[in-house]
Amino acid sequence: MTNPSPLHVAMIIGSTRRSRFGSVVAGWFAEQVTPRADMTLDVVDLRDTRLPDTLADDGEDAPEPVRALAPRLAAADAFVVVTAEYNHSFPAPLKTAIDSFVDEWRAKPIGFVSYGGMSGGLRAVEQLRLVFSELHATTIRDTVSFPICWERFGRRRHAHRHGGRQRGRQGPARPARLVGSCPPGRPHRTSLRPLRRLL
Ligand SMILES: Cc1cc2nc3c(=O)[nH]c(=O)nc-3n(C[C@H](O)[C@H](O)[C@H](O)COP(=O)(O)O)c2cc1C
Repeated sequence: MTNPSPLHVAMIIGSTRRSRFGSVVAGWFAEQVTPRADMTLDVVDLRDTRLPDTLADDGEDAPEPVRALAPRLAAADAFVVVTAEYNHSFPAPLKTAIDSFVDEWRAKPIGFVSYGGMSGGLRAVEQLRLVFSELHATTIRDTVSFPICWERFGRRRHAHRHGGRQRGRQGPARPARLVGSCPPGRPHRTSLRPLRRLL
């Protein structure tokens, strides 16, 4: 049997603050993926994409930053959303990014790497699950979470050995089922197994 093509993952960095900690957490995830032959990573940094705060009206052409990002999202087999928690929820630029697209999310698996204070961003993740279900995306149950994130990374800002992996009691997500829900055009082309090993 031939190996499936590498899983092409778009990692979305949801925080855009100048002094954000999100870059550290996103860097950690990228380090996990880079050595792997079974995954490729496109880093979608919302600080760079410059999506407008205001959504286009119905029938209006999408603004250029939205048109520029669309093919990158469409090309992804799966997404990993790196999210902070702001006041019990996720950052506003992330909501704008999600709302700016529809088909690009549809029937795709979405994993989370979250961070924050005591909650480790898990409340932001719970809210994101609701939002993505409205878009017919499939969120992966298991998450990686870094509570009190600034204490979890060493001086060189590498994760301490027992960084915040959280496993569901019933074991990992079921990749076969998720792949079975892939949209037309990419049926069973890839395996989610690489993502499952990381989340
Ligand atoms: C406006 C704001 C609200 C926050 N609210 C929460 C919160 O509700 N729960 C929590 O655990 N941490 C909260 N924090 C702490 C952040 O999760 C933490 O500072 C994190 O580093 C923010 O991500 P960023 O630095 O990548 O923007 C909040 C931070 C900010 C700036």
